[in-house]
Amino acid sequence: MATGRFITFEGIDGSGKSTQSRTLAASLKANGADVVMTREPGGSPGAEEIRHLVLTGDPDRWSAETEILLFTASRRDHLEKTINPALAAGKTVISDRFADSTRVYQGATRGDLRDMVDQLHSLMIGREPDLTFIIDMDPTVALKRGLARNSGEDRFEDFGLSFQQTLRAGFLKLAKQNPDRCILIDGNRDSETIAADIATQFASRS
Ligand code: ADP
Ligand code: TYD
Repeated sequence: MATGRFITFEGIDGSGKSTQSRTLAASLKANGADVVMTREPGGSPGAEEIRHLVLTGDPDRWSAETEILLFTASRRDHLEKTINPALAAGKTVISDRFADSTRVYQGATRGDLRDMVDQLHSLMIGREPDLTFIIDMDPTVALKRGLARNSGEDRFEDFGLSFQQTLRAGFLKLAKQNPDRCILIDGNRDSETIAADIATQFASRS
């Protein structure tokens, strides 16, 4: 049976992932595609409950190891309840973040925990996106944008600028290691220019 395409957006906090994933979803829908737009952490009722646990409160509320378990648990539910059924029905799934976020936020910021992340991923998730847009941008600007939203979900922004710089380096490394599915996008431009770039890149990979 034909399955749909699984597309993810990744990058540091405030880099424009939500804006660009919504724009791509809207343009694919306008062209008649059946698109499911989703996000992590969250994307299913159970995973949204875990979202609240991981995104609110003190930065040191959870260790990186505990976070790996919580994000993987939420991803497993998201996959079972939302992503897999939609792909099996032939729909295009666009997710604002997925496993690459765990590889970078939990795997490469507070010690090298990448092995642990990878082991749990292969045990519990075992699925990669078909295409990943990694939006790269200046962490100083992105952090200002993110905090200006006052979302109340700022636990990771509250780790500060050097944490965001480490994340940026982690995403750049990931893009280099996975050129088959990752496309690096320059996020230091206006939204319309970035969206046009993403649309062109998407078309060239379709
Ligand atoms: P993310 O999902 O990566 O956190 P968002 O798409 O929510 O990023 O964008 C964060 C904030 O920055 C929002 O207020 C959004 O309107 C704004 N924004 C997004 N893209 C751009 C851009 N290219 N230029 C200026 N502001 C932007
Ligand atoms: P998101 O709502 O996309 O935040 P933002 O709009 O600021 O980019 O994601 C919530 C936060 O959760 C974000 O700071 C990244 C973090 N996160 C992880 O640390 N690990 C993960 O596996 C995922 C999916 C998100």
